[in-house]
Amino acid sequence: MDGIILGIESTAHTFSFGCVGLDGALFPSISSLFKPEEGGIHPREAADHHSDSTSKLLSKLSHSNEFDWKSVAAVAFSQGPGLGPCLRVGASVARTLSATLNVPLIGVNHCVAHIEIGRNQTGCVDPVLLYVSGGNTQVIARADGRYRVLGETLDIGIGNMLDKFARHNGIPFPGGPEIEKLASKIDGIKHNLDSVALPYGIQGMDLAFSGILTSAIQRISEGITLEEVCWSLQEHSFAACMEVAERALAHTGKDELLLGGGVACNERIREMGTLMCEERGAKCHWPDKAYCIDNGTMIAELGRRMLDSGISTKISESAINPMLRTDNTVVLWD
Ligand code: ATP
Ligand code: FE2
Repeated sequence: MDGIILGIESTAHTFSFGCVGLDGALFPSISSLFKPEEGGIHPREAADHHSDSTSKLLSKLSHSNEFDWKSVAAVAFSQGPGLGPCLRVGASVARTLSATLNVPLIGVNHCVAHIEIGRNQTGCVDPVLLYVSGGNTQVIARADGRYRVLGETLDIGIGNMLDKFARHNGIPFPGGPEIEKLASKIDGIKHNLDSVALPYGIQGMDLAFSGILTSAIQRISEGITLEEVCWSLQEHSFAACMEVAERALAHTGKDELLLGGGVACNERIREMGTLMCEERGAKCHWPDKAYCIDNGTMIAELGRRMLDSGISTKISESAINPMLRTDNTVVLWD
């Protein structure tokens, strides 16, 4: 390896720097997570957190063993989608580093980065991606030079739904891991889903999670235990995602499912993916947890593939795009 790509992630709550060798070797990210004292994430406060942690993170990066400023061949950053104020901090740091080091700048699509880090780490080639994070829930597959969105949430992201339910019950952000712990106390074989019925939000290939959130909150006020509701919430919402993912596999004829995004850290969604794939002769993959959640390494990995394909970003074209869509990005690499 005779060079590295530096990646900067700042779409929402996580500010993160990570590297990948020009040969594709991945290096762990150095990150700081903004946790609001109460309530949801305020974009301005998260952006302040990112600005305030820049020097600490860069100093940690400089002192890490595998890192050398002289080896940096390009600087990649999340250009979108995400929260404008947060994206702006990452983009400014990226522009500064690229100009100072005199190396190319590469603006990348955050959603596509979740796919490419998964492909790098798991070795799957042409998967259907079930992208389940806080802000996004999409089923994606590659066709004709783009990652196409075959189905997605029509309202909030699945992780956002879990975080809101958690917050309603006094569990701080991020709520998903705690919901997983509480749900695992329920014996899924003995328990009957009808006893904690919740809506199942699918319309064609699309999903919806605000109805299930309202009902889950309602079940708590009816006296059903938090453990039972957490369990049912996972069962219903994950099963809905699997149904759309399975249909995507059937429609496209692909035989690999890749899980990505923070909710893909969940053992139950991984188990459901594995079972669904086994039943249809496909294979389910997921990257390490550190690469499911937002991280700078995945931004570096997509930057590496783009640079390999001759793509870089002029300063004049490096404005952030909070509304960037997965299928806006032309995919020129294998
Ligand atoms: P994106 O910008 O891609 O939408 P994001 O900003 O939501 O990403 P991620 O780090 O990809 O950030 O995902 C965070 C989400 O993942 C949170 O909603 C969190 O609750 C959820 N999450 C993390 N671990 C688990 C888990 N074990 N089970 C369920 N959800 C989880
Ligand atoms: Fe993400």
